[in-house]
Amino acid sequence: MQFTVAIDGPAAAGKGTIARAVAQRFGFAHLDTGLLYRAVGRRVLDGTPADIAAATLKHRDITREDLRTPEVSDAASQVAALPEVRSALVLFQQEFAKRDGGAVLDGRDIGTVICPEAEVKLFVTASAEVRAHRRWLELTKAGHDVEEAQVLEDVKERDERDSTRKDAPLRPADDATLLDTSDLPVEEATDAAIQSVARILGEKT
Ligand code: C5P
Repeated sequence: MQFTVAIDGPAAAGKGTIARAVAQRFGFAHLDTGLLYRAVGRRVLDGTPADIAAATLKHRDITREDLRTPEVSDAASQVAALPEVRSALVLFQQEFAKRDGGAVLDGRDIGTVICPEAEVKLFVTASAEVRAHRRWLELTKAGHDVEEAQVLEDVKERDERDSTRKDAPLRPADDATLLDTSDLPVEEATDAAIQSVARILGEKT
């Protein structure tokens, strides 16, 4: 069975948590596509040209432990604006989406560019302040010494770059279900996502 769930949205909106929960609930494979761009960004910081980094990306690049730092977040969003980087990563994502047994992909352009035919499309969002607070908590928990105001600035800068780039800008697909997690506990947002998937899956099977 092929069944694709596309989950898009800005940084720290809760996409990853929701995507993992949906994948686990239905036994689908999960791909955090942000990791692909983070891995390219990391390799660029290490000195590899962006197009080569994207074209030769290996599994070991996306399982590195140092992909969640603010420096890599920024590098990822810069390389993500390059059409040659995006095009090198399309096929891998599309093949993942079509794998037998169902797949959940989360990112910025899954419902609009990578899988416009996805059975379920969700766009998860929240205010920049709420997202920055969540990201700041994650970073401080992981031992990074960062100011919340700086995280907010970084989040806004990344939103702006991701939404205004020419190639595959961040935006909801016309037929996406919007999920605003600003005032919604993560369990409720996850339940809503699971219900959307269950409904469409029930119609299909
Ligand atoms: O989701 P995450 O914050 O890990 O993504 C890091 C960066 O990768 C984003 O800011 C965005 O620029 C880029 N990205 C993208 N398209 C995707 C996933 C991530 O452009 N599908």
